[in-house]
Amino acid sequence: SHGYFTYDPGFMATASCRSEITYIDGDLGILLHRGYPIDQLAQDANYLEVCYLLLYGEAPTAKQYEEFHRNIMRHTMVHEQLSSFFKGYRRDAHPMAIVCGVIAGLSAFYHDPMDINDARHREIAAHRLVAKMPTIAAMAYKYSIGQPFVYPRNDLSYAGNFLQMMFAVPCEDYKVNPIVERAMDRIFTLHADHEQNASTSTVRLSGSSGANPFACIAAGIASLWGPAHGGANEACLMMLEEIGSVDRIPEYVEKAKDKDDPFRLMGFGHRVYKNFDPRATVMRDTCHEVLDDLKIQDPLLDVAMELERIALSDPYFVERKLYPNVDFYSGIILKAIGIPTSMFTVIFALARTVGWMSHWNEMISDPKQKIGRPRQLYTGAAQRDFKTQVEKK
Ligand code: SDX
Repeated sequence: SHGYFTYDPGFMATASCRSEITYIDGDLGILLHRGYPIDQLAQDANYLEVCYLLLYGEAPTAKQYEEFHRNIMRHTMVHEQLSSFFKGYRRDAHPMAIVCGVIAGLSAFYHDPMDINDARHREIAAHRLVAKMPTIAAMAYKYSIGQPFVYPRNDLSYAGNFLQMMFAVPCEDYKVNPIVERAMDRIFTLHADHEQNASTSTVRLSGSSGANPFACIAAGIASLWGPAHGGANEACLMMLEEIGSVDRIPEYVEKAKDKDDPFRLMGFGHRVYKNFDPRATVMRDTCHEVLDDLKIQDPLLDVAMELERIALSDPYFVERKLYPNVDFYSGIILKAIGIPTSMFTVIFALARTVGWMSHWNEMISDPKQKIGRPRQLYTGAAQRDFKTQVEKK
């Protein structure tokens, strides 16, 4: 999987590396993880099974899964001293800023010598991050609302443990709602990996220099935060709330078409999918399931459905093949299960960590891989002689 970067005249960096992990066909709306279609994985696998598949290349046997599950759940606690990292942030800091900083800080935390050329060390790094991301994500949320951190519980599922660390308080019992737990696990699966997107390419490029993997994942988190990428789920829900009602949709659709207006319909369009994002289809079905099961009538879902209908019949969107993407429905589900908007992209980063680590591991384990070195099309001044205009004292 030799990495190489080429620039097209539009100066849009296209990073392409050979990989065996995920296959996307943007025209046919196909997404495969190690050959398995995403809709089948979302239906029949749980997130930790998908993590095993992405990291090791094959679906786990019952025995392999049991060992992997036990290993991950036994590493969900973080070092007590890590909690002091959070104290440097203002309480109103965005949880993505906190998570980005704390994950980068992990590179200073683990003093056991990390030899990234040793497959076992790489495996430990991947397990640590998959295990600890939910704990750190929940700590970022608890810190931002001034509540005490909640310790992980190994008797719960991966998704159930995350929910209890997010919502439990010391003064009362917390019961995981199985409907919410299943929806959370499916959201993790739908966000696990997505080929060479901006954040994964960031992890690969930063990792290609041999940098510490925790620092590389922090770089991926930073890239994911942008509203054009993972930040779109938070931006999409805020857009639906701003639209507020079905009768205001046409005004926003017109805004999105206006070249002079920077407004875009968040949750629509994709760099690769010029057909439906297969994750959006699963997400839409899950959205209806969760709202029905939880008996929630969310007017935002009506706005989302009507926006989808109008946008998909509007020539501007049809000609440009702008379909709902993974971020369009996820925010409505997350809101329905009680996740605060500020945590939407953190959940995306939590779920995508296994994808980033799978790509990082695939690249580092390739003996032929070299440091990434994007080239450019130079459009600056031709060579000329310099004459200072500053009088030197
Ligand atoms: C993710 O890469 C991945 O795999 C990412 C991701 C993953 O899992 O890692 O799938 C996750 O990031 C999904 C995308 C989330 N972002 C959003 O929902 C933000 C809104 N979408 C846009 O910002 C946009 O669609 C992008 C950034 C996703 C793609 O932008 P491009 O590359 O400019 O899209 P394009 O080239 O296909 O655009 C074609 C035309 C352009 O107009 P023209 O110049 O042809 O006149 O469509 C327009 C664009 O201006 N357009 C939109 C639009 N998206 C594109 N117009 C209005 N609203 C939109 N959302």
